Amino acid sequence: MNFLTRTTRHIHTAFLSPQHVAEIVQTRGLANIFAGMVEAMRADFLRWSEFDKTARVASHSANGVIELMPIADAKTYTFKYVNGHPGNTLRGLSTVMAFGVLADVDTGTPLLVSELTLTTALRTAATSVMAAQALARPDSRVMALIGNGSQSEFQALAFHYLMGIEELRLYDIDEAATAKLMRNLAGTTLRLVKCSSAADAARGADIITTVTADKTQATIITPGMVTPGMHINGVGGDCPGKTELHADVLRMGPVFVEYAPQSRVEGDVQQMPADFPVTELWQVLNGTADGRCSAEQVTVFDSVGFALEDYSALRFMREQSIALGIGEPLPLIPALADPKDLFSALGTPVIATPQQTPQARKNHPA
Ligand SMILES: NC(=O)c1ccc[n+]([C@@H]2O[C@H](COP(=O)([O-])OP(=O)(O)OC[C@H]3O[C@@H](n4cnc5c(N)ncnc54)[C@H](O)[C@@H]3O)[C@@H](O)[C@H]2O)c1
Repeated sequence: MNFLTRTTRHIHTAFLSPQHVAEIVQTRGLANIFAGMVEAMRADFLRWSEFDKTARVASHSANGVIELMPIADAKTYTFKYVNGHPGNTLRGLSTVMAFGVLADVDTGTPLLVSELTLTTALRTAATSVMAAQALARPDSRVMALIGNGSQSEFQALAFHYLMGIEELRLYDIDEAATAKLMRNLAGTTLRLVKCSSAADAARGADIITTVTADKTQATIITPGMVTPGMHINGVGGDCPGKTELHADVLRMGPVFVEYAPQSRVEGDVQQMPADFPVTELWQVLNGTADGRCSAEQVTVFDSVGFALEDYSALRFMREQSIALGIGEPLPLIPALADPKDLFSALGTPVIATPQQTPQARKNHPA
């Protein structure tokens, strides 16, 4: 519509709340959401060169970090706001909270504002599975899950549904977290084994997933816990000064990362020299680099979370919300008849009389 007709132009920005996302997941089914997200993400990783990529912008403080994660291709721009505050749970707040925007590159119009706290957990599990499908032994059935907090059920179920994991060996320094996970997964066919230490959890596992939150250079997995053929899915070491894997674990097999410039600063590979070899996952997915080469090899996915995963998740959830009619309009941008007449959006009356101006009040105090 031409603005010269002076018809008020409404910008259609949609909003997805956590309730909307939950409704989408309930309607589609969690297994289908994971499968769809992996598919969307793989398709986007195969278009790697089409994206304008940048390492996330991090603002560090004593208790945590706040990050902005932008990315764009020729059509769509997205960004995520996300924090990481491991001490938050003691204050009744989540360690990770997020929201994001998907916008049209052609005009800059924000098309979607979405919660990304739940969606980050979904996309992180989908990323882990996408990597494991390329790197773990296909006959993997037992997974150690170390760190049983917010992300853990998502990881557990994505690996159960899409990788055929049948047994979970659970460990958390907080027994209540493990009990919560066991309660939440009680209705599944997963065998849930509560373990007494990380080493105990790793015993007999085909895959080790670490998803702990602690702002320290931790060594949760040491070489003695790793046996031939294991795949390590390191999710929690995602910030400078915050690691989970002993440096010698990284030397046990090829290490795969999302986006090397970001991972070398934030991932477990931050401990390694700048020329330590890493392979970006997209190269394995498009067949230009080797993934797992033998059943005995140890493979490590040093995940930190990359903006492209949120791009895929946002576009996938937007497609679902449109198809299902879930979500609501968000009056974010002023509706204008004349796009140059922004002032009119303030409504009337807003113009102060000469007597009402701050200068007049200063000159003539009441
Ligand atoms: N790679 C990614 O894309 C990605 C995405 C989301 C979150 N994360 C990271 O994953 C981690 C977990 O996030 P969350 O939302 O589940 O946090 P959370 O605080 O809800 O849970 C973390 C759990 O780790 C446990 N823990 C801490 N130290 C431990 C140790 N030494 N051994 C065993 N358990 C330990 C805690 O008791 C807690 O239950 C965070 O560090 C977060 O930054 C990474």
